[in-house]
Amino acid sequence: MKLWQGRFEEDSDPVFEKMNRSLGVDAVLLEVDIRASRAHARSLAGCGVLTPEELKAIDQGLEQILSEYTPEQVKAAPYEDIHTFVEATLASKIGPTAGKLHTGRSRNDQVATDFRLFVRKAIGLILADLEALQAALIESGARYSEVIIPAYTHMRRAQPIRWSHYCLAYVEMFSRDASRFEQSLSRVDILPLGSGAVAGSNFPVDREAVARELGFAKISANSLDATCDRDFVIEFLSDAAIMMVHASRMAEDWIMYSTEEFGFLELSEKVTTGSSLMPQKKNPDGFEIIRAKAAMTTGLLTGFLGVMKGLPTGYNKDLQEDKEAVLKTFENVRLSLSVLRLSVRTVTLKTDRLEKAASDSFMGATDLADFLVMKGVPFRSAHEIVARAVREALDQKKQLDQIDLSAFSPFFTDLPAGYLTAENIVNRKGHSPLIP
Ligand code: ARG
Repeated sequence: MKLWQGRFEEDSDPVFEKMNRSLGVDAVLLEVDIRASRAHARSLAGCGVLTPEELKAIDQGLEQILSEYTPEQVKAAPYEDIHTFVEATLASKIGPTAGKLHTGRSRNDQVATDFRLFVRKAIGLILADLEALQAALIESGARYSEVIIPAYTHMRRAQPIRWSHYCLAYVEMFSRDASRFEQSLSRVDILPLGSGAVAGSNFPVDREAVARELGFAKISANSLDATCDRDFVIEFLSDAAIMMVHASRMAEDWIMYSTEEFGFLELSEKVTTGSSLMPQKKNPDGFEIIRAKAAMTTGLLTGFLGVMKGLPTGYNKDLQEDKEAVLKTFENVRLSLSVLRLSVRTVTLKTDRLEKAASDSFMGATDLADFLVMKGVPFRSAHEIVARAVREALDQKKQLDQIDLSAFSPFFTDLPAGYLTAENIVNRKGHSPLIP
């Protein structure tokens, strides 16, 4: 069955049908399509298009479809898309009354409505995932509250920081991601139904009532815009792409930090794999896949921006590709957030290795310069003095705190013992520069 066969004399070619068919993808809209159709039926009854009996038959028929089918079962059904499947299945249950459901509606405002419901729900789930990951990071920071790690710039040891400082950096990133998704929600949460194919509806449907029933905050103002607006899709994809950039950077850190060379983290066996050939291997596949998924997610965003930018105003079938982009992105995001969370919850910090790395006193060079500043030396001169001390220590193959610093500035005779321990360097931040 097709919803539009009447005007045609010939059947479409199977190859074209294969391309045109979206049911394999949009079957996931089963639940939202039925919810939106039930609300639409009520609005048709409200303006006299359906009798109370017809409404009841349609409403119950739709409810039944939802209880009888899962999206998985629907995927293989021989229909063009989810809207056709629902209408055809309804007709098989309640007969010709089903044919009244599509009054004043087009698949254009229908699919825009369905998809907004879907994306709204997806955002809710992502927000919960983000919150759970942030909670795991905060917990890890607290569990290893004493642990200090080297912070890097240019991938070179820069200054020591607490493990919690590292964890909370990602809490910040993921909370910005959450706020971006939340802000997008206000632009997703708008009802297009009632826009028809492009120009609006000839029936005085109560769109506000439909919006209330479906939980939309607002109704769309312009039918021409509402039927072809996919800004909410672009926003979802870009919020996700930015989030995946953060996930990928964290993955990259954890891949490095868990190498034999760094030896900072012991990843759990729950999130690592072995090698089919090399018996000793424990590979960080999860993080590697996250890194790749971040790239592919960016591709979906740029791909869909490309789809949109040349479209003439009004619905065009190009828009159908929005589903694949969003569904794949949604899957990438959810899997990545879950695996990151699992990794954070199960990681073991190799505290002996970290202690050794963090106690590299060259990372206290800035503190030495600042110490001279406190004595009245201009920072630029202090930098120069400490740089000379660094050179000397390197030449002597010693640590910065193992050479006689007073040879470089008499002020260093006052330098308290243990000035360059990682603990003291960390504690000095945000406190008195004179600690200890
Ligand atoms: N499967 C289509 C989509 O996702 C539904 C809308 C079809 N509309 C149309 N006029 N052919 O966009």
